[in-house]
Amino acid sequence: MNTKVWKVDKYVDNLENNPQVVDAANFLRDNEVVALPTETVYGLGGNAESDEAVRKIFAAKGRPSDNPLIIHIAGKKQLRSFVAEIPEKAERLMEAFWPGPLTIILKKIDGVLSETATAGLATVGVRMPDHPVALALLKSCGLPIAAPSANSSGKPSPTNADHVIDDLNGKIAGVIDGGATGIGVESTVVDCTEAIPVILRPGGVTKEQLESVVGEVHVDAALTDEAARPKAPGMKYRHYAPNAPLYMVSGTANFLQNLVEEKRQEGLRVGVLTTEENAGVFEADVVLACGKRTELETVATSLYDTLRRFNQEKVDVIYSEVFPNTGVGHAIMNRLQKAAGNKLIVE
Ligand code: TXA
Ligand code: MG
Repeated sequence: MNTKVWKVDKYVDNLENNPQVVDAANFLRDNEVVALPTETVYGLGGNAESDEAVRKIFAAKGRPSDNPLIIHIAGKKQLRSFVAEIPEKAERLMEAFWPGPLTIILKKIDGVLSETATAGLATVGVRMPDHPVALALLKSCGLPIAAPSANSSGKPSPTNADHVIDDLNGKIAGVIDGGATGIGVESTVVDCTEAIPVILRPGGVTKEQLESVVGEVHVDAALTDEAARPKAPGMKYRHYAPNAPLYMVSGTANFLQNLVEEKRQEGLRVGVLTTEENAGVFEADVVLACGKRTELETVATSLYDTLRRFNQEKVDVIYSEVFPNTGVGHAIMNRLQKAAGNKLIVE
């Protein structure tokens, strides 16, 4: 399959009628799959009402079939056709954070969406993305769009169109290149089917922000307890992994540098994932600064790109700094833990 690339400037007016966007929307209406930029990561979109389209998403990614997809909408009105009820707290969260990086799990109306998209569950995860190109595409095609991150299953999520091409070229109908995404980690997934909302996946909206709108918010036990079974099926898979083994290191720069030395003496090519503040401190084969420690948002923005760059650099092993587990750091550490398969070395 020849994968089309539509270049779209997200700042131009009237994106809904932009010929590139309209062309991509036509592919979606024909049940083909198209990658699109969002404010978090690139998504791989397909008509959420069509089993045929949704099967193409799973096939292109190599995604396990028990892992449901997030349904993307252009406005709340679209919910009426496939959501059974919107609890008051969910309503408040939509009001506060949509469009934006928040996925809300609600009870679904059976028989509207593809059962493949929702993995046969009684619930559905929905979000309204905060990206002009994504919103224009959603409006232009007029469909609810199922879209997981547009990476091959297990790889770091794509934060630019080149990442998508690296993983999915020839496997999808096209990709809209709308430039680099902003937030860099995926949406927060919050289950609103119970009286107290539960965070199933930390992401772009922090727990503190959710609590400021709805009061008490729980966190799925599986996020802190490795033995617990996650409520979001996708959270049980190893994810975001670079090709080389990745170790998180909690300790001083000296301690991390000693680990590097040991491996280099074994003749290995060693990478260090650090931050702008510390980039000059380490001596290794490849030292990559992933944003600024004092502005964790910048770490989130470049995390996946940094993980992918270690693959290009063909390192044998990677040591990474760790980050505070608060605010957006919660999402950063969750992704890093998955990328590392939980391997942590403590001084
Ligand atoms: O930022 C994002 O959320 C991106 C962009 C493209 O929107 N999408 C994304 O999708 O990260 P994906 O498929 O990579 O991750 C969706 C997560 C998975 O962990 C999945 O198990 C969970 O959401 N999920 C989806 N529907 C669910 C449901 N009904 N109940 C529980 N978890 C659900
Ligand atoms: Mg994903």
